Amino acid sequence: MRAKYDEVAADYDEWVGGSSALDDPTFAELTGEVAGQEICVVACGQGREARYLATQGAVVTGVDLSEKLLEIARLHEETEALGIAYRHGDAHTLEGLADDSFDGVVCYMALMDIPSLDDAVRSMARVLKPGGWFVLCIVHPCFKTPATGEIVDHVDQSVRRTVGKYFVEGYWHGPGRHRDALPVGAYHRMISTYVNALAAAGLVIDQLREVPADTPVWREVPQLLYVRGRLS
Ligand SMILES: C[S@@+](CC[C@H](N)C(=O)[O-])C[C@H]1O[C@@H](n2cnc3c(N)ncnc32)[C@H](O)[C@@H]1O
Repeated sequence: MRAKYDEVAADYDEWVGGSSALDDPTFAELTGEVAGQEICVVACGQGREARYLATQGAVVTGVDLSEKLLEIARLHEETEALGIAYRHGDAHTLEGLADDSFDGVVCYMALMDIPSLDDAVRSMARVLKPGGWFVLCIVHPCFKTPATGEIVDHVDQSVRRTVGKYFVEGYWHGPGRHRDALPVGAYHRMISTYVNALAAAGLVIDQLREVPADTPVWREVPQLLYVRGRLS
């Protein structure tokens, strides 16, 4: 399988802040107290959420398809050793990781990049210990669809997000707000598709989070959807 992020690895690393650990209060709240826990970070990229979890005392294994992003992750690990084990691997199988071996599984900003949602969530469920927890963060499937736009309210000048093609699932490659080099396309799926895939894998949701961000559009509607739950 082609690792599309290999082509944008250096730019992506710069875009997400280089060696800094992820700074996302919602993610931190949802993952909670992780000291001493074994956590698998699926599609870890250059390692920013892996570093956050390791600084909280977790024993972290990061898996990603992109050798180039993993190289960068390992360089960051050399600069500040946090004991993170980075492995090249495919989220569809998580081959080489044992069944029932992790207390928690995290997949941050990546399920949209993975072609088979069903295979990926089944693999996450496979490596979780019974009762183990998961935290996911995806671009919000209701507000980032293959056809979106923005209009300015003529009364108060606030920005409205317009959304279309919600029911058109599949790969799409639309214009992003960021630099051209970064978008590699993504798979749009309905929110029901996500929830049903998790349920079919035995992953039971106990919390969803949607938070406003400090930009004109994302103050109005959520850009991200966070999901937390446990293996039943
Ligand atoms: C938007 S990046 C997010 C990376 C990291 N989680 C972060 O937040 O910075 C999406 C990641 O998914 C990875 N990815 C895509 N398909 C994958 C697959 N089948 N198996 C493992 N990783 C995959 C990409 O290589 C990339 O690192």
